[in-house]
Amino acid sequence: MACPAAALLLPLLLGFLAPARATDPYAFFDWDVSYVTRSPLGVPQKVIAINKEFPGPVVNVTTNYNVAVNVLNSLDEPLLITWDGIQQRKNCWQDGVLGTNCPIPPGWNWTYNFQVKDQIGSFFYFPPLSMQRAAGGFGGITVNNRAVISVPFDTPDGDIRLFIGDWYKKNHTDLRKMLDDGKELGMPDGVLMNGKGPYRYNDSLVPAGIEYETIDVEPGKTYRFRVHNVGISTSLNLRIQGHNMAMVETEGSYTMKQNFTNLDIHVGQSYSFLVTMDQNASSDYYIVASARFVNESLWTRVTGVAILHYSNSKGKASGPLPDPPNDEYDKTFSMNQARSIRMNVTTGAARPNPQGSFHYGQINVTQVYKLRNMPPVTINGKKRTTLNGISYSPPATPLRLADLYDKKEVYTLDFPTMPSDGPPVIGSSVINSTYKNFMEIVFQNNDTKVQTYHIDGYAFWVVGNGLR
Ligand SMILES: *[C@@H]1O[C@H](CO)[C@@H](O)[C@H](O)[C@H]1NC(C)=O
Ligand SMILES: *[C@@H]1O[C@H](CO)[C@@H](O)[C@H](O)[C@H]1NC(C)=O
Ligand SMILES: *[C@@H]1O[C@H](CO)[C@@H](O)[C@H](O)[C@H]1NC(C)=O
Ligand SMILES: *[C@@H]1O[C@H](CO)[C@@H](O)[C@H](O)[C@H]1NC(C)=O
Ligand SMILES: *[C@@H]1O[C@H](CO)[C@@H](O)[C@H](O)[C@H]1NC(C)=O
Ligand SMILES: *[C@@H]1O[C@H](CO)[C@@H](O)[C@H](O)[C@H]1NC(C)=O
Ligand SMILES: *[C@@H]1O[C@H](CO)[C@@H](O)[C@H](O)[C@H]1NC(C)=O
Ligand SMILES: *[C@@H]1O[C@H](CO)[C@@H](O)[C@H](O)[C@H]1NC(C)=O
Ligand SMILES: *[C@@H]1O[C@H](CO)[C@@H](O)[C@H](O)[C@H]1NC(C)=O
Ligand SMILES: *[C@@H]1O[C@H](CO)[C@@H](O)[C@H](O)[C@H]1NC(C)=O
Ligand SMILES: *[C@@H]1O[C@H](CO)[C@@H](O)[C@H](O)[C@H]1NC(C)=O
Repeated sequence: MACPAAALLLPLLLGFLAPARATDPYAFFDWDVSYVTRSPLGVPQKVIAINKEFPGPVVNVTTNYNVAVNVLNSLDEPLLITWDGIQQRKNCWQDGVLGTNCPIPPGWNWTYNFQVKDQIGSFFYFPPLSMQRAAGGFGGITVNNRAVISVPFDTPDGDIRLFIGDWYKKNHTDLRKMLDDGKELGMPDGVLMNGKGPYRYNDSLVPAGIEYETIDVEPGKTYRFRVHNVGISTSLNLRIQGHNMAMVETEGSYTMKQNFTNLDIHVGQSYSFLVTMDQNASSDYYIVASARFVNESLWTRVTGVAILHYSNSKGKASGPLPDPPNDEYDKTFSMNQARSIRMNVTTGAARPNPQGSFHYGQINVTQVYKLRNMPPVTINGKKRTTLNGISYSPPATPLRLADLYDKKEVYTLDFPTMPSDGPPVIGSSVINSTYKNFMEIVFQNNDTKVQTYHIDGYAFWVVGNGLR
């Protein structure tokens, strides 16, 4: 199987922007994170809710806002919340990942304080520890343009959030146990849309009585759909029956407006689309998220289906779902879709100067890392994945605490710049990077599955991707 590789440029540039001014507005949130019982696929299970909401509430703020989120952990295990895509420029203690933040113990609360400095766009948060994301705990982050900077398209008539993601009927503690026992998770049981199971588009595939998502719209209006793949591992193809999806933004950058009839959205990715309700409403329309790069005849049960309902709709959606791309096992179509996305370099975003005024083609790269992941291996009886032969093990003393108390023995700074062919090992090996430098990272996927990386706390630009 061909092997997709992607190169990224990562600025290790934490200090080039003006420090936070006390005058930037504050937004405060109080969250109680707890289990609630839901049956998205017809089986009651405990899911992670925020203030009893699943998915959680949207953090709706504007460029440069200071955000304070007081998180009370009402679960029975430690919790972290990470803010995907939010750059931790001035305060790298607040990104909610193991090593820089200590987990919040059950029954305790902790207030995350961060600033959405020089950012715009659509992001999401999720609990990164212990497979908790398989139980929910996610929600949207919207960073609006400041009023003085125009958005490169007409103001939409409404804003619609869509979380899509694979889902297991087993709960996250059972899933975790499977991995710890050295087992594969296997095929998910379905795809949820906004925490709900599929519309019953086919009586033999979808059982009766499942609650599905309905998106209510007005004919003739244009809505901004903010879509996030919040799943565990499944790439999903998104399409809205009979409608064009005009992509305008991805993860904090406005893109050149481009129509898609369907788009592959990989785990962790976020996109904004403008969708105009320009059809005749002879019936409702399907919104579909179906699994990619899998044998579809086996995976037909793993399809998310929601309903787009015009206020003047004349009936229920029926008949077959709109077709997925006809390219089973050929990743070229998907790669070409990804390659066609271009940043709009003439529009302002967080700042009035255009996004393109930062000439990343002229950046002097000072460090290059080639990171190769391999198919999971069993080490000490557990399923583990490796990067350059190393499976990371978080040290008992978190990295930042080790730095604070100058405990050099806690971790090593010897992460290899190139893949090695040695036997896989477990280690607390960390990349040694230099403040204010730019790093180029080449990801090489030696597995047979699509991989996604969460480069926490940093901005990066994809400078190329391809098949080997
Ligand atoms: C998950 O399910 C198992 C039984 O399969 C149960 O023992 C465990 O308490 C459940 N965990 C949660 C968080 O619901
Ligand atoms: C989010 O905030 C913006 C700016 O304050 C406001 O215009 C918009 O209505 C808010 N959206 C939601 C969904 O609350
Ligand atoms: C915990 O919550 C209380 C009540 O909202 C608040 O006063 C306190 O500052 C919070 N503690 C932390 C560490 O965030
Ligand atoms: C790019 O941004 C400019 C400035 O806001 C806007 O006028 C133009 O329509 C955008 N181009 C595309 C293709 O989206
Ligand atoms: C429902 O799905 C099954 C299995 O894929 C298929 O054989 C059948 O034709 C479908 N029914 C309809 C009404 O589409
Ligand atoms: C996208 O499709 C719409 C019709 O839905 C059309 O009016 C528009 O010109 C197309 N935009 C682009 C950039 O192709
Ligand atoms: C509505 O559009 C559909 C699909 O384009 C078409 O098949 C149907 O005949 C149209 N119905 C009416 C009442 O115009
Ligand atoms: C997909 O799975 C079906 C059922 O097991 C099998 O018959 C078919 O050969 C598989 N297709 C491919 C391309 O592997
Ligand atoms: C890269 O290095 C060259 C030569 O030292 C220098 O002229 C240029 O300004 C540097 N580029 C950036 C973006 O710093
Ligand atoms: C980390 O990199 C810096 C700068 O290149 C270097 O001075 C230092 O020795 C390195 N540390 C280790 C432990 O390799
Ligand atoms: C993985 O790496 C091995 C050895 O370097 C190579 O032979 C193989 O083709 C690679 N497989 C994939 C899927 O990239």
